[in-house]
Amino acid sequence: LSNLTSYIIHPQVVLIGPDGVGKTSLMTLFERGDSPSQTHTSQKSHSVELNASTDSSSKYSYKNHEDTTGTHTKFLLIDTPGHGKLRNVAMERLVRCERLKAIVFMVDAAALGEPESLAPTASYLYDILLFLQKRVSDKSNNNKKNNTPVPVLIAANKVDLFTALPSTLVKTNLEAELSRIRSSRSKGLLDSGVGIDDVGSEEQDAWLGEYGSEKFSFKQMQEFEIDVDVLPGNVTGDGPGAEKWWWWIAQRI
Ligand code: GTP
Ligand code: MG
Repeated sequence: LSNLTSYIIHPQVVLIGPDGVGKTSLMTLFERGDSPSQTHTSQKSHSVELNASTDSSSKYSYKNHEDTTGTHTKFLLIDTPGHGKLRNVAMERLVRCERLKAIVFMVDAAALGEPESLAPTASYLYDILLFLQKRVSDKSNNNKKNNTPVPVLIAANKVDLFTALPSTLVKTNLEAELSRIRSSRSKGLLDSGVGIDDVGSEEQDAWLGEYGSEKFSFKQMQEFEIDVDVLPGNVTGDGPGAEKWWWWIAQRI
């Protein structure tokens, strides 16, 4: 009998991104219905159980705690630390997910206009996207559940601040920086004088998106069935809020 009652793993959604972008604030908002007055830099991953619905009368809202209409699906929202020195903690948590349904990569839209913010943000995003791409394209991986493509939401947070970039610019800035990172990471290869047609499969596997293309775009991830969406929002202050992100998650768990 103990085998039959083995515990169920809930669908998992991982909240990831650089430090200070608002990940823990968002998780607290979803959990409690209001944002915390104070947060601390996260040093550990932390998960909460939440309920989302696609058919209840409050389906667009995370404030659905009392809602008894429709069906609700329990899922785990997993917050990860963003500090550069703790990237391994975040990545390990991601790799450990057995029922990974979606990734919310949060960025600070108010800081992304600055190169000091754009470069490390894009570099982190590059690693996440490449991880997801390899997960799908790895032919030796016969474990079906680990091959399921995982969609990515780029949550452009802090749009309540006047310095915030519109989401179209968040998208194009990230794509431009990802293109730059991709060409610099493949530079050793190009410098060696090897033509694009002569490289081995190992190099191809390490290339993000459409192989050999000059510019990276999020659309190229569709080749691996990975959808990438960019949606603006805010956890604190005045603005569109966080409900669009909630609805995006609700449809994917
Ligand atoms: P790490 O744990 O270091 O990875 O950071 P984090 O992504 O969890 O960020 P956290 O939630 O701790 O928020 C960092 C700061 O951003 C806090 O002071 C928040 O109040 C603030 N913040 C979060 N969301 C928003 C927002 O939408 N607008 C504004 N203006 N500030 C926000
Ligand atoms: Mg945090």
